[in-house]
Amino acid sequence: MFTSRLLWLGLFAAALSVVFLIGALQLRPEGFQRGPAGTRIAFTGGGGACVECHARTSPGIVEQHARSAHAVEGVTCQDCHEVREDHFAAVEHYGTFVATTPTSATCAQCHLTEVNQFLRSRHALPAWVAMTGVEALENSPEFMALYEQVEERGILDPVRNSLFAMEGPEITRFACAECHGIGRPNPDGSVGNCTSCHLRHEYSLEQARKPETCNACHIGPDHPQFEIYEESPHGIAYATMGHTWHWEAEPGTLTVSDFPAATCAICHISGFGRQGTTHDVGERLSWFLHSEISERRPGWQENAMRMQQVCHECHSQRFVSDFYRDADILTVRINEMVEESQTLMAELQEEGHLTPEPFDQIIDFEYFELWHHWGRTAKFGAWMQGPDYTQWHGVYEMIRSAAHLVEAATELRGHHAPAAASGEAMR
Ligand code: HEC
Ligand code: HEC
Ligand code: HEC
Ligand code: HEC
Ligand code: HEC
Ligand code: HEC
Ligand code: HEC
Ligand code: HEC
Repeated sequence: MFTSRLLWLGLFAAALSVVFLIGALQLRPEGFQRGPAGTRIAFTGGGGACVECHARTSPGIVEQHARSAHAVEGVTCQDCHEVREDHFAAVEHYGTFVATTPTSATCAQCHLTEVNQFLRSRHALPAWVAMTGVEALENSPEFMALYEQVEERGILDPVRNSLFAMEGPEITRFACAECHGIGRPNPDGSVGNCTSCHLRHEYSLEQARKPETCNACHIGPDHPQFEIYEESPHGIAYATMGHTWHWEAEPGTLTVSDFPAATCAICHISGFGRQGTTHDVGERLSWFLHSEISERRPGWQENAMRMQQVCHECHSQRFVSDFYRDADILTVRINEMVEESQTLMAELQEEGHLTPEPFDQIIDFEYFELWHHWGRTAKFGAWMQGPDYTQWHGVYEMIRSAAHLVEAATELRGHHAPAAASGEAMR
């Protein structure tokens, strides 16, 4: 019994090593010859010793790189990873120095246009500052200057910064920072993480263009853009017919024959019809929809025109201007609803019923959710065609939260102060 088991084990081990040998042979660099979109091309990516060795130690990375436009164009591992000895992330590596974490400065060597557009957007430093507060940049005049160069940086919100501080880095490293790191300040003085949308090492257009890429961050009760999109006619077209669209089409030349319905990228980033490609995602927006009370953006008329040009590729002029008229009216109406509750909170503050700290009384949470979750969701739902989000996850929840606020206000006033209980602030 025992010996036969040993025999089997021996045979098994022998078989394993044969499989392993064949595997190793196939993992020679010449074995990686698949090009973008599954076409077979010769791997001209160069890479020499890096590719040779990494095909054994991390074949996944070599395979991904081999499928990329970078490999086709002769961009090598060294182009992105090899650095000088004094680089902040340099590690000595087989006779040279490599950085594990190329930054947007690496990409800027060849893609300066995209990096500069990105730097103008709220995806850059404003995303980081939204989380940490502007204090995080105070020791660096260079980053502060880059931050202040973003015209649409908007208004800071200390309420959420206090949540960030309250939770602490043990938690926020896996939470806020995973999403807001898209605009992180890097130790080499550059800003942002292009890998947030362009997964390494394939850098596939199809991947960056699909809405699931945005889903990494634009999801959840406070900014459910992905869920809204799924419900919209555009999202339905994508889910049902998207497999027939031209995901790898040359950037800057996209038309309705490539994309017969809109995606997040088509509306916010892609060159489509008469609009050029942009990595400044604010370029086509007219409102600060994410704010407590939405205001117009600087240059909002031109921004709205750019977005409407995208819509016009598929919809009539009248359809689009009627839609904008109605969505503007809804935005103002949601502002009014938030203002009513804001007034009530200000009164309670004045009467001494609220502590100055955010998030230490239940009523703080109720008001926060009223605008930060439900108010924003109602606006996003309307602008991006998700009626269930405008209605049941939006305005209905706002009305419910407002009723809770009035009840909580009555209770606070009854218990703690002479002021008469009153729901008048609500209407
Ligand atoms: C002789 C084999 C060999 C060669 C040649 C080689 N590497 Fe590596 N490399 C490795 C191994 C092994 C690791 C560690 C892998 C692990 O931790 O799983 C590694 C790790 C790395 C890392 C991650 C470093 C870290 O600290 O996490 C990078 C980046 C890298 N290599 C890039 C390169 C580049 C670029 C070249 C060509 C200039 C290169 N390598 C050449 C074997 C090699
Ligand atoms: C277009 C630029 C680019 C090219 C080309 C490139 N890399 Fe990378 N690589 C990156 C970026 C960006 C990261 C992630 C940086 C971060 O985590 O912030 C990375 C991460 C890595 C890592 C560490 C993370 C991990 O997943 O293990 C290794 C190892 C690595 N690359 C090896 C290679 C090898 C080998 C090649 C060539 C076959 C290569 N890279 C080609 C940009 C590139
Ligand atoms: C050494 C130059 C070089 C570096 C560094 C470089 N790229 Fe590229 N990249 C190219 C070239 C060349 C192409 C192919 C031609 C083109 O589309 O411009 C390309 C294409 C791309 C594409 C389009 C892919 C396609 O299928 O058309 C993306 C996305 C991209 N790069 C992202 C990045 C990112 C992100 C970085 C930094 C992590 C980076 N690149 C670093 C040279 C570079
Ligand atoms: C799942 C990803 C994700 C997480 C986690 C996340 N955020 Fe955000 N945050 C976003 C996105 C996406 C927006 C943009 C919403 C919009 O414009 O519609 C945003 C917007 C904001 C804004 C408003 C923008 C501004 O500049 O006023 C602030 C402030 C903010 N987040 C702070 C935080 C803080 C603090 C945390 C952690 C306590 C956090 N976020 C966690 C993705 C995230
Ligand atoms: C918010 C997601 C997002 C981020 C962040 C992002 N990109 Fe892109 N990128 C895209 C999308 C989507 C496309 C495809 C545009 C299209 O449909 O034509 C693209 C296309 C590109 C292209 C090909 C453009 C062309 O005209 O050939 C390059 C190069 C590129 N990105 C580089 C970068 C660099 C460098 C960074 C970091 C500064 C970056 N991207 C950050 C989403 C992103
Ligand atoms: C890694 C997380 C992440 C990914 C992935 C991401 N975003 Fe964002 N996005 C953010 C954050 C964080 C903000 C909020 C920044 C702020 O307002 O301060 C934001 C803001 C925006 C804004 C509003 C900008 C403004 O000026 O108010 C738009 C539009 C946007 N993103 C579109 C997209 C699209 C389209 C994609 C996918 C192609 C995408 N994003 C992918 C994190 C992300
Ligand atoms: C049909 C075009 C269209 C599609 C598809 C679309 N959006 Fe939008 N998006 C808009 C319009 C229009 C606005 C509001 C514009 C304004 O303010 O004038 C908007 C607003 C936004 C905002 C709010 C920015 C702020 O002010 O806070 C974010 C973030 C955003 N979209 C992300 C996404 C993401 C992520 C997807 C995909 C899951 C997506 N969008 C799909 C057209 C679109
Ligand atoms: C690439 C083409 C394309 C673009 C760009 C596009 N749409 Fe659409 N849109 C469609 C298609 C296809 C439908 C589904 C039509 C149907 O329901 O029969 C649709 C439906 C709609 C609907 C619902 C219409 C209805 O009758 O129920 C609205 C509202 C809408 N789009 C608004 C917009 C706005 C606003 C923009 C620009 C911000 C935009 N669309 C951009 C293709 C597009």
